[in-house]
Order: sequence, then C-alpha cells, then structure tokens
Amino acid sequence: MAHTISRTLVALALLAAVHGQSDLKSALEQSGVRAVYPGSGEFSSASASFNKRYNYQPAVITYPTSVEQVSAIVKAGGENNYNVIARSGGHSYIAAGLGGKDGEVVVDMSGMASITYEDSTHLATIGVGARLGSVASKLNQHGRAIPHGNCAYVGVGGHQGKYSMSSHSAGGFGITSRMWGLLMDSIEEHTVVIANGTIVTASSSENSDLYWALLGAGASFGITTSIAVKTYPVPSYSKSWNYDWMMDASTAAQAFVDYQSWILDGIPQELGVEGWFSRGDSLGQIHVQFHGMWNGPQGDALDNALRPLLSKLPAPRSNNIEGDGTFIDALRLRSGGSLDTSQPDSSNTFYAKSLMTPESEVISPTASLNWMNYLANEGFATSTGWFFQAEAYGGPNSQINARPVDSTAFASRSTLLTIQLYSYSANGQPSYPEEGYAFVDGAAAAIVDSMPSDWAYGTYLNYPDDRLDNWQQLYYGQHYERLSELKDVYDPSRVFVFPLGVE
Ligand SMILES: *[C@@H]1O[C@H](CO)[C@@H](O)[C@H](O)[C@H]1NC(C)=O
Repeated sequence: MAHTISRTLVALALLAAVHGQSDLKSALEQSGVRAVYPGSGEFSSASASFNKRYNYQPAVITYPTSVEQVSAIVKAGGENNYNVIARSGGHSYIAAGLGGKDGEVVVDMSGMASITYEDSTHLATIGVGARLGSVASKLNQHGRAIPHGNCAYVGVGGHQGKYSMSSHSAGGFGITSRMWGLLMDSIEEHTVVIANGTIVTASSSENSDLYWALLGAGASFGITTSIAVKTYPVPSYSKSWNYDWMMDASTAAQAFVDYQSWILDGIPQELGVEGWFSRGDSLGQIHVQFHGMWNGPQGDALDNALRPLLSKLPAPRSNNIEGDGTFIDALRLRSGGSLDTSQPDSSNTFYAKSLMTPESEVISPTASLNWMNYLANEGFATSTGWFFQAEAYGGPNSQINARPVDSTAFASRSTLLTIQLYSYSANGQPSYPEEGYAFVDGAAAAIVDSMPSDWAYGTYLNYPDDRLDNWQQLYYGQHYERLSELKDVYDPSRVFVFPLGVE
C-alpha cells in the first residue's frame, strides 16, 4: 500500500515537473491576468464547449485584456510545457478553442473585442474577441461593412480562417463574399503573439511569410489579438430572399445540376446564394430551398438575376423577399432575426463534414442523383437531425476566386460550392447518436464515391471534421508543406498544437 502511494506520488511529482503547474500559476499571477482554474465555481461554464459532443478540462482559462498579457500567458504556458490555445467566440465544431484535449492553457479573447474605424483609411481595427453581430452593427454606423458569415455570435478570430480561435463559419466566407472576397482577403495587418511570446506585426510588408500563413492557417502560428481590415461602403439597397420547394429526388438532383450551371454561367457579384436541403415531409422527398442576399440595384435586378435558375425549376411552394431595403436589416434577417449578442449563446450536440467542390470538375448529374436519393431515403429514415447547405463561392464574377491561390495559405480558391453536411442530436442535447456518423459519412460518400477517384475536392477548415484520414491534403492542399516549414520557424517547440493544426 505504502509502496503504491509513493509510486503515485512520484508519478504526480513527475507530472508536475513536466508541466510546471505551480510555475505556470505564479507566472500568470505576476502578469495580473484573470485566470480560472479547475475547482473554481466558474470553471464548468467557462470550459463548456459550444458543441456538447466534446468535453475537455483545460489546465486554466485565462482572460487577457491586453496584447502584453497575451504575450505573458503564451510565455508562461510555453516555458512550462503546456500547449496554449486561443478561444475567440468559442464556436469551433471540434472544440478546438479548448485545444482538442485536456490540460491546455486556454486564452479566452472575449476581453479583447474593441472595434474602431478610421475614416481617412477606411480601415477598421478589430479585437479578435469581437462578435460578428457587434462588428456589423458598429461598422454600419459608419456606413461601412466587411464580408462575414451569418452567425452573430461567432468571434472574428475564428472566423477568418482560424477556426480554433473560435468556431464555425467561414475562412471568412459570408453571403457577401462573391462581391467582397473572404474576410481574410481584406485583412491588411495582424497584431500577433508568436510561440515565444514575441509581439509582432504581420502584413504584406512586415513578416510577410507569417502574414501568408496567418491567412488560412492562423491558429497554428500564433495568437492574433487584433486585425486591421479594409472596409467597404454599405450597399445602398439590400434584401434577404428565399424560395422553398418540396421535391422528389430526381427533381432535386436536376435542380442541383441547374444550380451549379447557373453559378458557372456568371451570376452577379451582388447576389449571395446558397442551396439548402433538409428532411422531406415524406419518404422520397427533400425540402429544398435556395436563399441568399441581394446587394444590388432596386427594381427588377434581383428577379432578373434569379430567373435563369427559377425558370428551370417547378413553381416554389413559397417565397419571400424580405427586409426594409437596408444592408443591416437584410443581414439581421440572414442572422436569424437579430445581431444582438448580449445574451448568452446557445449550444448544440452536432457533427459536420464539408466538401469544397472544384470549379474545374463540378458534381456530375449521376453524383447529384445519388446524393439526392440518399437525402430522400436515408435522410428521411434517420433519427439524426440534419441540414446540408451548398454555399456559392465561385463563378466568373467571384472575388473569392479572383485572387491567386498562392497569395495566401487558403488552399481552395477555385471552389464552386462549399457543401456543409451538418447533423445534430434530435433535441440538441448529448449524446450525439452513433448512427449519425454513418449517416453523414454516407451522405458525403454518395457524392465523392460517384466522382472520379482523383476528384480534387477539399474541405473547409471552419467546418472542421476531426475524423478524416488525409486531413492535411483536404484542409491545406498544396500549401501544407510550406506551412509545415513555417511552423518550424515560428513555433519550433510546438506551443500551438490542436486537432487539424499544422504539424
Ligand atoms: C522569437 O521567435 C522568432 C521567430 O522564430 C525569432 O525571430 C525571435 O528571435 C524569437 N525571439 C526570442 C526572444 O527568442
């Protein structure tokens, strides 16, 4: 017995030595940063994941209010052999904002959420803890806007391609991205803390290799504390629009083929659009929607833009063109009716995958039919909740594709559609149903297995899936090797380590 206890004590002592728990604590105390440790009353809500499928216990959750404090935390963590991870909005699908394992030093960025706008340069400086809803509302007061996703709660940090700094949503993709590009394409400068705690500026003229890596793989290279972003004049007329059908599988498959051709033929930049597919009313049917945002002229222009698609489809069972005509109101409607983020956010228990489909080889009619058959049959039978969306990235007028692919780390520029396959437990609470994995895997396979074996699709880092084998290729494509070399330069001792991070 005594023997066992002393062994345990030795093991514990070793663990403490490796991890330097008390040194970490005293270093954090010296920096003056607020820190929440396991055992404190706040800890369980502070460490809760947005996706209830994950449950991790960090070593500590810190709440810095200055870049100097972020630097002190990174140094304290690194010197004591902890992995350090930033959490911006906390929406990561795989709880990457907690590091994807127990025992990490979490840097919660919610105290660094200031938003300022400079009229002479049209640049906004945004703390990465700022929520998208606040950013949109604040910039709108200046008659300015930036491209971003629909979820008001998502933190800016995670959004622009650093899913681990928060969450869900787009490498900065949003419904205005065909007109303005990805959010990260508008970032002129990062203020970032690298692995050894040094505070650096990364822009096209300063630390340009780091700047390149931050645009698409940011969380692997440092903790960005704020970004300077180019803003755009708010469109003078905007509407949120939606068309809705109940279709059988073959009609839905043809609609999907028509949807791809319509985008490739050149829809206006001012049109943001996604296809939306969910459980039908009965076996063999699919609920189909096409919806989006219009930021162009008043009058017939929206109808004219939609007509080439709508004229090929059956009459919708309903349609809405909504909003008071202002950009901010259309954005509010797209964001579920509110841009207010003052109330606590909700959570979910979910699993998602994504497919970024290349413009050079779009989903074939056969693959489309196989997919829709799956949705109409397995999709009706499953007890797992789901919706699949197909966001339009491409087409000849898209600003996403206008940029050379090697100009940033983001690998999937020449994408026609980003398809998100999102599933959730029926009541949103744990546990996630085991059959849900097979259902979602099968839905993705219904497309991929019907395409040629060398089909060059990718996956979207802000819809992260930690169950993929060849994730390096799927998420980072041809840029992985350079990213890996830069990882050795900027994070040689591997402070920033998390699932799907550059190794
Ligand atoms: C921190 O890391 C950067 C990038 O590797 C390096 O240039 C710099 O010299 C390092 N600073 C210190 C104090 O070690």
